[in-house]
Amino acid sequence: MSAYDVIIIGSGPGGYVSAIRCAQLGLKTACVEGRETLGGTCLNVGCIPSKALLHASHMLHEAEHNFAAMGLKGKSPSVDWKQMLSYKDDVIAQNTKGIEFLFKKNKIDWIKGWATIPEAGKVKVGDTTYEAKNIVVATGSEVSTLPGVKVDEKMVVSSTGALELNKIPKKLVVIGAGVIGLELGSVYKRLGSEVTVIEYLNAITPGMDGEIQKVFQRTLKKQGLEFIMGAAVQGVTTKGNKATVTYKLRKNDSEHTMDADTVLLATGRRPFTDGLGLEALGVEISPRGQIKTDGHYATNIKGIYAIGDAIDGPMLAHKAEDEGMACAEGLAGQKPHVNYGVIPGVIYTHPEVSTVGKTEEQLKEEGRDYKVGKFSFMGNGRAKANFAGDGFVKLLVDASTDRILGAHIIGPMAGDLIHEVCVAMEFGAAAEDLARTCHAHPTYSEAVREAALACGDGAIHA
Ligand code: NAI
Repeated sequence: MSAYDVIIIGSGPGGYVSAIRCAQLGLKTACVEGRETLGGTCLNVGCIPSKALLHASHMLHEAEHNFAAMGLKGKSPSVDWKQMLSYKDDVIAQNTKGIEFLFKKNKIDWIKGWATIPEAGKVKVGDTTYEAKNIVVATGSEVSTLPGVKVDEKMVVSSTGALELNKIPKKLVVIGAGVIGLELGSVYKRLGSEVTVIEYLNAITPGMDGEIQKVFQRTLKKQGLEFIMGAAVQGVTTKGNKATVTYKLRKNDSEHTMDADTVLLATGRRPFTDGLGLEALGVEISPRGQIKTDGHYATNIKGIYAIGDAIDGPMLAHKAEDEGMACAEGLAGQKPHVNYGVIPGVIYTHPEVSTVGKTEEQLKEEGRDYKVGKFSFMGNGRAKANFAGDGFVKLLVDASTDRILGAHIIGPMAGDLIHEVCVAMEFGAAAEDLARTCHAHPTYSEAVREAALACGDGAIHA
């Protein structure tokens, strides 16, 4: 029986990052992973492959829409779907092999197989039982089911199946206007599919700043995505090559149907903890299936910890990574802290959408006195040169102290621009601190500075 300081179950961004930090801090570490490759959902069937398809399809969009205007003439590229999928698979392989390399470099043992926890201090994989002073559950999440919808990963797919369709569908119906539905809906729209998104609520991307929701939906509509809002999907049936989606409009309860070649179910994810034996151990689980933890990621059973999608909070790879590092540092005797008030969210459509901190709706509800500083990318020289003038930066700051409370961006590289605001928020900065920081010209980042200037005496290029 091998003995470890820490065994981490699951090698997604939460698990593998935690394993590396444990090893860096001198703990003898193993990570259990049953998939053929390391990296979990994010690297194998989530964030990374979807970004490859978003990148490839955006290149096609640029060629079709903007090349001629820049004097780049000639035949527009045609889509070789097989090649695009193999490019995506290559990107996955490079990333998953990268984690394998990091494990070797940090002397982390990869225990291949699916783990159970027979008792605290023990992890069983196949016929072998390993001893561990501490166990970290980082098993992530799986696709939530919807009554009446059976995912076959061929015609009715989850995000996993949507990343390896046999062919580009003529008609794609997406259930759910959340992050997955809009990112993958965008990919197929650019590749030529007719895409209709059916959403239960009256706004897309629940929880986002209301102004961003409206502009984002308008932008996607301009790109050709169709939306049916306030509609609850009742079920999907398949016959031959056709899938039929039935939905009810919430405003009048009327029932409708829509045919499609492919249906993408994107109505959320739920914690995945099956087969670990947590119930038998008495580990407390919330009614939503999340493992309950304290501020140090400890469960109610001594020596068992949990992080990432399997516990409370937004299901985001980077949130899991931060928890993985903090958990490891805690196990090594340090005093880490994750600031849940400054966790950015990004949607990798074009334009990108990013958000951090409070939305305007939240500030109103809290009765907080706030100011808004806004700047449109139309006033940004770099954005105009790159056909990227759609969108804006919106900063929300305390009316009396000028302290930054939230930022919401729709526009080019929004997912990168948000981090300047994240750092500022970590330092408790005021909008004036951003406004007085010299920003290189011409960059998209100048739009963030201009929004900060707009919180004071005014933006220059507005
Ligand atoms: P989501 O929670 O973002 O959105 C699901 C949407 O489905 C909601 O708008 C909801 O109102 C709608 N819905 C639920 N039931 C419905 C019904 N019966 N009929 C019609 N609409 C219905 O979930 P999504 O997009 O599946 O993503 C899952 C998780 O993965 C999220 O936590 C997300 O943050 C994460 N993720 C993050 C990414 C990123 O950071 N870029 C990329 C992909 C996923």
